[in-house]
Amino acid sequence: MAIIKTTEKDQTEFSSSMSELTEYFSQLSARKGRALTYNVLTYGCQLNESDSEKLSGMLSGMGLEETSGGELDDADVIVFNTCSVRENADRHLYGNLGVFKTLKKNDRDVIIAICGCMMKVPENVAKIKKSYPFVDLVFDPQQLHRFPMLLRDSLRTKKQLVNIAVDDYIAEDSYFPIERKRKFRALVPIMYGCNNFCTYCIVPYARGRERSRSFDEIVRELEELASKGYKEVMLLGQNVNSYKGEDGKTFADILRAASDIREFSRVRFMSSHPKDLSDEVIEIMATRPNVEKHLHLAMQSGSDKVLKDMNRPYTIARFLEIADTFRKKVEGGSLTTDIIVGFPGETEEDFQQTLDAVAKAKFDAAFTFQYSARPGTKAATYENQIPQDVVTERFGRLMEYTNRYAEESNGRLVGKTMEVLIEGISKAGDMTFSGRTITNHLVNFTIPEELGIDIGPDYLEGRLCEVRIDHARPYSVDGVLVSLKGE
Ligand code: SAM
Ligand code: SF4
Ligand code: F3S
Repeated sequence: MAIIKTTEKDQTEFSSSMSELTEYFSQLSARKGRALTYNVLTYGCQLNESDSEKLSGMLSGMGLEETSGGELDDADVIVFNTCSVRENADRHLYGNLGVFKTLKKNDRDVIIAICGCMMKVPENVAKIKKSYPFVDLVFDPQQLHRFPMLLRDSLRTKKQLVNIAVDDYIAEDSYFPIERKRKFRALVPIMYGCNNFCTYCIVPYARGRERSRSFDEIVRELEELASKGYKEVMLLGQNVNSYKGEDGKTFADILRAASDIREFSRVRFMSSHPKDLSDEVIEIMATRPNVEKHLHLAMQSGSDKVLKDMNRPYTIARFLEIADTFRKKVEGGSLTTDIIVGFPGETEEDFQQTLDAVAKAKFDAAFTFQYSARPGTKAATYENQIPQDVVTERFGRLMEYTNRYAEESNGRLVGKTMEVLIEGISKAGDMTFSGRTITNHLVNFTIPEELGIDIGPDYLEGRLCEVRIDHARPYSVDGVLVSLKGE
């Protein structure tokens, strides 16, 4: 699979198709006598969220407005940015697509596009061609930067256009308009793809080989974000520690460059692979105040045999050693993980070893998943698949375990006053606000009226404050605002 850099010619074609589409939508809007809207539906991980911010940026650049209603079918251009990591992610798409058949019948101008990781699985593309002919455009994550060209071509031909790339592009983001979802937080991919081929995982097939963005380009983007007022950056990649920039630049260099930007209150990153995490990165986390004291390190299993079958090249002893180094060096830091239950061939003894490892690592939070066989991956062909009732039972036991340690971790914050970066009104509504500590603990808090603070969310979003924590829950803590920083 070739790795190709986008060229000046690509950029010129990008601009000309953006102009052509702007003209097209402006005429359509005049004909309909109303503003046109778009809805980008995002499934999956933060890399997909970041891609969706670019799709939204391009659609806004064509003169369309984002729908605010949240109704699935309430838009003139609908884009499904899909995920294929587990089977239930696939089901979301097919569950929703049926609705759009009638919609397309009633309004032939509505445009439906599907992109994202599911489109790299040939069975899905074949199914869309056969059963969903009303879908206008199908493309894959490597061709995000070609969205305007593909959309233009599908409008010209008025036929379903399916374009799945064989090449892995590096599309530098400088010519993408990006519509960032959060006013204070910017998602910044530093690398794309994955070379690890864990035997259960679809991502290397969906996202192609690892390719790193230019160091200088990333720093330029970070500086621009700081000048625009962003307070938090999230550096993204499937395996950020294997970043390879020009002149031997490493992930540690990026982390230092980002933390040198004083406007950033928080520098976060996701994800790290145990085989590549360096002591240098842990040292940076320990010593730089604006670098998060939170490490997400996927363990996947506590059994060496299962780890080997998963093609995860570390032993559980090595994993626990890294966990221990992190705990010792990054004082009060939090360690979170991903765990898969029911991988083919997992015995009760293997599973017990996972529970033992959880007890030793005492994860501050864990994302637990039931193994899902993904067509095209090696593990899907293994014969010793585990019956669903066994998986469900083990999953329940694991959750009990991980939740216990998560609640304990939250409990340790009770009585303390913590610095919190405010994210906005909490999901619970009722004038409760939410934010995160530098250890990534989720904090919901109230603001006492007597403090006389302007509680408009636009004013508070991205601000740092001190919160006294008075109650712990399994996934969050509650508290009361003590003071707003910088007042
Ligand atoms: N690159 C990241 C890493 O290795 O830490 C993980 C990214 S992946 C999108 C997120 C998590 O999904 C994985 O860590 C794994 O636990 C889970 N996952 C991936 N494939 C899966 C599958 N086939 N079934 C169940 N869980 C899966
Ligand atoms: Fe998937 Fe493994 Fe790559 Fe993570 S490191 S994206 S789990 S193949
Ligand atoms: Fe992410 Fe799902 Fe693709 S987790 S990389 S969107 S398969």
